[in-house]
Amino acid sequence: MVDSTAVTNSDVEKVLDEAGVSNPHVREYVTYWAGITGPARVEVVNASDDARLVAEALEAGELQPAGEGLYYSRSYYKDTARSEERTIVATSQPLDKGVYNNWHDGQEMTEAQLGRMRGQSAGKTMYVVPYLMAPQGSPLEAYAAGVELTDNRPVVLHMIRMARVGVSYLDQLEDPAHFVRAVHVTGDLENLGQGTPEDQRYFVTVADQRTILHFGSSYGGNALLGKIAHGLRQACYDGRASGRFLAEQFMLLGISDLETGKRWHIAGGFPSASGKTNLAMTLAPDALGSRYRVDFYGDDIAWLWVGDDGRVYAMNPEFGVFGVAKDTNASTNPGALDSIQPGSGAIFTNVAYNEKTQEVWWEGKTKNPPADLDGWLDWKGEKIADRENGDDSPWAHPNSRFTTTLANVPNVAADFEAPQGVPVDAIIFGGRTRDREPLVRAITDLAEGVYDGLTLGAEATFAADGLDGQLRYDPMSMRPFMAYGEGDYAAHWLEVIGKASQPPIFAHVNWFQRDAQDGHFLWPGYRENLRPLLWLMQFKEGEVEGVKTPVGVIPAESELVMDGLEVPAEDMSRILTIDTERWRQEMGFREEHLAQFDRLPEEIWEAHRRVAADLG
Ligand code: GDP
Ligand code: PGA
Ligand code: MN
Ligand code: MN
Repeated sequence: MVDSTAVTNSDVEKVLDEAGVSNPHVREYVTYWAGITGPARVEVVNASDDARLVAEALEAGELQPAGEGLYYSRSYYKDTARSEERTIVATSQPLDKGVYNNWHDGQEMTEAQLGRMRGQSAGKTMYVVPYLMAPQGSPLEAYAAGVELTDNRPVVLHMIRMARVGVSYLDQLEDPAHFVRAVHVTGDLENLGQGTPEDQRYFVTVADQRTILHFGSSYGGNALLGKIAHGLRQACYDGRASGRFLAEQFMLLGISDLETGKRWHIAGGFPSASGKTNLAMTLAPDALGSRYRVDFYGDDIAWLWVGDDGRVYAMNPEFGVFGVAKDTNASTNPGALDSIQPGSGAIFTNVAYNEKTQEVWWEGKTKNPPADLDGWLDWKGEKIADRENGDDSPWAHPNSRFTTTLANVPNVAADFEAPQGVPVDAIIFGGRTRDREPLVRAITDLAEGVYDGLTLGAEATFAADGLDGQLRYDPMSMRPFMAYGEGDYAAHWLEVIGKASQPPIFAHVNWFQRDAQDGHFLWPGYRENLRPLLWLMQFKEGEVEGVKTPVGVIPAESELVMDGLEVPAEDMSRILTIDTERWRQEMGFREEHLAQFDRLPEEIWEAHRRVAADLG
């Protein structure tokens, strides 16, 4: 029976007392929101509650067992990806309006969200999830604390894996009022009109109030507020407001040359579902494994700042990996499979599930789906055996995910929690681009590097609703997370990285060029992607010269380390060629793209004109 009597203020006070929440600002915030959303009870969460919460979720049918210490969950079938057009950045400053951030007035949006959320947690538990988006002791710790309030237990279980969660993080705040207020209310998912003109979902970051109000989803990308809304959108805003840092949708990895002892770190922005997790997790190809080691730091978010030594530093604010399941297998990403082994505590979402054997499956896990259909359910929970003949729709949702902690990742760096972060040698941009973009082009000039990021053009993916395959610009892979205008964003980049006396090299990479006839990927990708990165590091160190082109320096074919790898000669020459005609056409599109941005720094226009002039 649902207990629909809402908690009273004194019930909430008592729960907070018992949980040891003494921060008066946190107490006031929790009490205020309990009064709005009207839950039946309130519970404060520490990471150590995981086992109990998992048991409760299994009991309630919110999770299914998927092997020893592994879990399966399904989100509502109309709620399986981030929704970009329902996502809003709100402030009191119209100047914060950009082309992509869907800016609205903060007060208006706050009031509208209050109205939507009122009473919507009736009968439910409101979980209070204090979290930290940084390794403890980080120089950016002041921007990292938050408290998510959510009425959804699977969301809590995901938060425990994706962020550092516990009441103790609230005790260490320098300014006790300086934490992100992140409110998540699931809403009545079956009656929200997802994707219709009556859509009730709103995902709002009131950035100048450091308040996040998300209503109408339980899918991770919309509901794990520490990750997407705080770690990216809010931090993007805070980075500029403080003048101190950048918060970017970047993976972060280390490469060690075991022979020379050299070590490099590379940060890189690729749009959602375009290869960040795979790149950071990917082990060196077998033929290079005795010489090089790849260390994982982060797969989705990096915060960057300049250290006292004049180098750019980066850290991953997250605690876990929220990875795309599709095509993850022993040859593409053995590290990912290791990180979701029995006992890891991993949660699979929207994959296919066998209700009898408790196995999970997704497209590309094995070449063919399981032959014996008995017990198998697709991502909507429908029996595969009942499918009509000829129904070959995917068993798993293309955006199905696995959630596991960083510590489970086999190649996680020894110093992955080091508070001082790691020095960054290169910043790379890339995405799914089926033509034009070569395998790698190195850029040594800061303004040209920032220009290159701003003109990142790639195919959209299934990580966002309804956009799969659409070619679009995605500046620095931050299009869905931009907190303020793009021109100011570019200026902030130039200012922050411009402070570095030893700036990183930039590069653009593309693992996704395809053959125009049969569509095959020209580059084998995955573990082999280490090769162009090695070339980039050798180029930076002056060990290879490369070939100068108007859009950067590309490798001479002989310079790429190709031991143990065969790529057809014509594919190789295609991915290491600049199609000047196609690039000239691209420059016109870029001009239109950049012209949309207010206050774009003159340095960026100069870089654009330089490249255009070189292309002739
Ligand atoms: P992220 O969302 O940016 O972290 O991207 P993922 O690493 O999760 O990859 C998204 C999808 O792209 C998955 O289905 C991967 O299997 C696929 N993918 C990743 N890297 C490569 C690559 O180098 N080549 C090809 N062909 N596919 C890749
Ligand atoms: P992704 O992370 O970039 O790995 O897909 C989640 C997201 O951006 O929605
Ligand atoms: Mn992402
Ligand atoms: Mn990822």
